[in-house]
Amino acid sequence: MAAVVIVGMQFGDEGKGKITDYLSERADMVVRYQGGSNAGHTVVVGGEEYRLHLIPSGILTPGKICVIANGVVIDPAVLISEIDGLASRGHDVSGLRISPAAHVLMPYHRRLDEMEEEARGANRIGTTRRGVGPAYVDKYSRSGIRIADLMDEASFKRRLEVVLEEKNTLLRRLYGDDGFRFGEVCEQYLGYARRLRPYVADTVPIVNEAVRSGKRVLFEGAQGTFLDVDHGTYPYVTSSSPTAGGACVGAGVGPTVIDKVLGAVKAYTSRVGSGPFPTELTDEMGSRIRDKGKEYGTTTGRPRRIGWLDAVMLRRAAVVNGVTALAVTKMDTLAGIGTVKICTGYRTPWGTTTDFPATPDDLASCEPVYEEMEGWRDEEIASASSFETLPTAVRRYVSRVEELVGARVVLLSVGRDRSRTLCLEDVF
Ligand code: IMP
Repeated sequence: MAAVVIVGMQFGDEGKGKITDYLSERADMVVRYQGGSNAGHTVVVGGEEYRLHLIPSGILTPGKICVIANGVVIDPAVLISEIDGLASRGHDVSGLRISPAAHVLMPYHRRLDEMEEEARGANRIGTTRRGVGPAYVDKYSRSGIRIADLMDEASFKRRLEVVLEEKNTLLRRLYGDDGFRFGEVCEQYLGYARRLRPYVADTVPIVNEAVRSGKRVLFEGAQGTFLDVDHGTYPYVTSSSPTAGGACVGAGVGPTVIDKVLGAVKAYTSRVGSGPFPTELTDEMGSRIRDKGKEYGTTTGRPRRIGWLDAVMLRRAAVVNGVTALAVTKMDTLAGIGTVKICTGYRTPWGTTTDFPATPDDLASCEPVYEEMEGWRDEEIASASSFETLPTAVRRYVSRVEELVGARVVLLSVGRDRSRTLCLEDVF
């Protein structure tokens, strides 16, 4: 099988970057299909840590084509610093391809993200303040600037002139901000254009041709199912479609070409930003897992909210994404904490249920029903070299997740480094 979507089944930060990096060795192409530099993918290879926001994690494996497709919004400054950072560490970035249809994140998007968040006060979403939401707003209101415009000086200036006047009026009148000068933005962005031009290519035929000729193509989702603008806990969501369907729209491939959907699941749950979170642990256990799992945002450094694994959410995610297999990450983080818990249902004002509630307000009123399971120790998991050599308690946990979600676990991450990944079944 050739075309595989990797999708987050929780609130993002499930370890998709690590899974993509691990699978890249056997893939020919990795495609990022949505989101922007709000995403942060941490990958550890041979003890070296990489933090990527825009370039697909596949770039760390030599010889792979890495596509930033139509559905992504690109902050050129972030992308250029990622290219330079990788090059300075000896990585070849010549396999990068950027879609001319991808939208460009402008300085006013970042400023508006900050101003809007401040104005929301106690109702703030907790965005990453990278300007991603406002960039998607412009895309859908048809006042966005695309990479193709950026590559054409006249077109860029024409579009910027109109949009900037509108944004400056908004910033000045509504937020008392000074706004931006046309000349300065032009100079800065046309400089970015010169740097990015070698990588720009129509990615739709590139991706479709790879799929048609049987190449192994990974579609790398950013964020997670419950941050999806249609399927997440709205309004506490991101502004794009991280779910598997988003891969088709964002990359320009038909749904019939997707062979498999690999759901990335962290062994517990984490969330950055506001919004309902039924299994959240606000006690000592939450802090322990946060510290052990280094659960601080890759993009913002914010401490992540921590909770037990929630199988009700995972079942919903499996359906929404058409998940065919699971990759469970961070099993090592749960080691050494004694008994572990899995939420199997919700106690609600209208009775106990195993169904995911229809609205985020309903979700906020849910009390988790837990099943307790025997835990495992650090040294037991650290020495395991295959699924069979893992402690029985780990194997029981994995089987229970499979039962509750209704999908096979094919990859298991038992440590930060790429080498600490156990493959139970071939993903391709
Ligand atoms: P935005 O995408 O920056 O607009 O933020 C909207 C919500 O999505 C906030 O709760 C963010 O913390 C969350 N979010 C955005 N990107 C990520 C990510 O890559 N991982 C985890 N949470 C994210």
